Amino acid sequence: MKLTAALAAFAALAPSPVVSSTTTESDALKPLTITTDGINATFIGYGARLTHLYVDDKKGDPRDVVVGYDDPVLYTNESANHFFGAIVGRYANRIKNGSFELDGKNYDIPKNEHDGLNTLHGGTVGYDHRNWSVAQYNTTSITYSLLDSDGFQGFPGILQIYVTYAVLANPPRLTTRIVAIPLDQNTPVMMSTHIYWNVGSFTSANILKDTLYMPYSDRVIPGDSILIPTGQLQSVKYPWTSPAVPLNFTGERPIGDGNGQQCGAGCDGIDNAFILDRPSAEAAESTVLQLYSADTGIRMKVRTNMGGLQLYNCAGMDGTVPLKGDQKQNGLEYIEKYGCLVIEPQDWIDGINHPEWGRRKEQIFGPDTRVSENWAQYEFSTE
Ligand SMILES: *[C@@H]1O[C@H](CO)[C@@H](O)[C@H](O)[C@H]1NC(C)=O
Ligand SMILES: *[C@@H]1O[C@H](CO)[C@@H](O)[C@H](O)[C@H]1NC(C)=O
Ligand SMILES: *[C@@H]1O[C@H](CO)[C@@H](O)[C@H](O)[C@H]1NC(C)=O
Ligand SMILES: *[C@@H]1O[C@H](CO)[C@@H](O)[C@H](O)[C@H]1NC(C)=O
Ligand SMILES: *[C@@H]1O[C@H](CO)[C@@H](O)[C@H](O)[C@H]1NC(C)=O
Ligand SMILES: *[C@@H]1O[C@H](CO)[C@@H](O)[C@H](O)[C@H]1NC(C)=O
Repeated sequence: MKLTAALAAFAALAPSPVVSSTTTESDALKPLTITTDGINATFIGYGARLTHLYVDDKKGDPRDVVVGYDDPVLYTNESANHFFGAIVGRYANRIKNGSFELDGKNYDIPKNEHDGLNTLHGGTVGYDHRNWSVAQYNTTSITYSLLDSDGFQGFPGILQIYVTYAVLANPPRLTTRIVAIPLDQNTPVMMSTHIYWNVGSFTSANILKDTLYMPYSDRVIPGDSILIPTGQLQSVKYPWTSPAVPLNFTGERPIGDGNGQQCGAGCDGIDNAFILDRPSAEAAESTVLQLYSADTGIRMKVRTNMGGLQLYNCAGMDGTVPLKGDQKQNGLEYIEKYGCLVIEPQDWIDGINHPEWGRRKEQIFGPDTRVSENWAQYEFSTE
């Protein structure tokens, strides 16, 4: 898409009133809530992140089903987890060796993971660390914007990003839409949300008995000991690829069945990149993931236009992150190991370094391409 068309597209995406003033520091930590029948969601500008999401359980009681902090200041603690509910980018997930080639030039990105071996979630100062501005806010939707400058964290070109969150009723749904518009140069773009889910709302200490169902996830992208793709693509369905069989969630199974397979050194859990194998024309219509907790009876159905899902079942949680006040119950006050499931709708991990996969057209955008759009919808029901 030409720049003029791109500008027209984003003008259409960001209807008035547009508040274009830069967000002050205190504004970036100000919680803003959107609400409709059966659902409400709260956000802050720091990381354009979701902090609370209430939906009704089977008894009709509202339950907060995401990980986060009640006090927004805690998100700015450099020693604490920065990805809770945040937008991650400019390029989500891992980049091998923090480098990539584009238009004949090599780029180096800050290697902020594994003692400098790779990039994670956009570098040292990823979008989760940025203070986004509020571009639009009403009772049912909020749009944050960020203008990322040329060369920041090593990425080429200016990128204008809009993230819109909306709640819808009957059935209760949360929609996330991230539109990223490269204004002047070609650049890798792989945006994602980074929400830590617990549809049981911490009734139990872990989510291993909650069920997961991903009918289109026939393949995974295996990683090495630091979760960098080896380049292979592996079926989850056939015994001769036995390391991947625990990841066969093409039928509904307990999440705990996914443990005991390859998820990097020192990891016993799920931290894997799943491919969504369905016709692209059906992408936005098909339910690609269902998560269900018998404790609350809450079922979540996920749709997305993305080609993959990174899932992580919080194997690294160790009972030090406190639960939010409304989530403390049954003597449980902290998030225990396997206490949540991160779902990141995104394209194939490190696809910019694997041209043989044919994903670069889904990951490299510029003034002469369509804009990057990451869309997902989370629908809630009880049974
Ligand atoms: C973002 O906002 C927080 C909270 O006000 C503040 O601590 C931080 O310094 C701000 N960061 C930048 C880069 O302005
Ligand atoms: C969101 O819903 C919860 C549960 O009903 C309620 O306690 C909270 O006050 C609501 N938040 C807002 C800002 O309406
Ligand atoms: C920041 O996070 C670390 C690690 O969780 C924790 O030990 C420390 O107490 C936190 N600092 C503040 C000021 O909350
Ligand atoms: C790793 O990145 C460095 C720059 O940070 C580069 O010099 C080196 O060639 C890269 N190595 C490989 C194997 O790509
Ligand atoms: C909030 O704004 C969005 C985007 O313009 C619009 O679709 C929606 O109807 C608005 N909601 C209300 C309650 O006005
Ligand atoms: C994978 O899951 C499907 C659906 O439950 C099942 O029919 C199939 O037998 C499983 N394959 C393996 C190898 O476990």
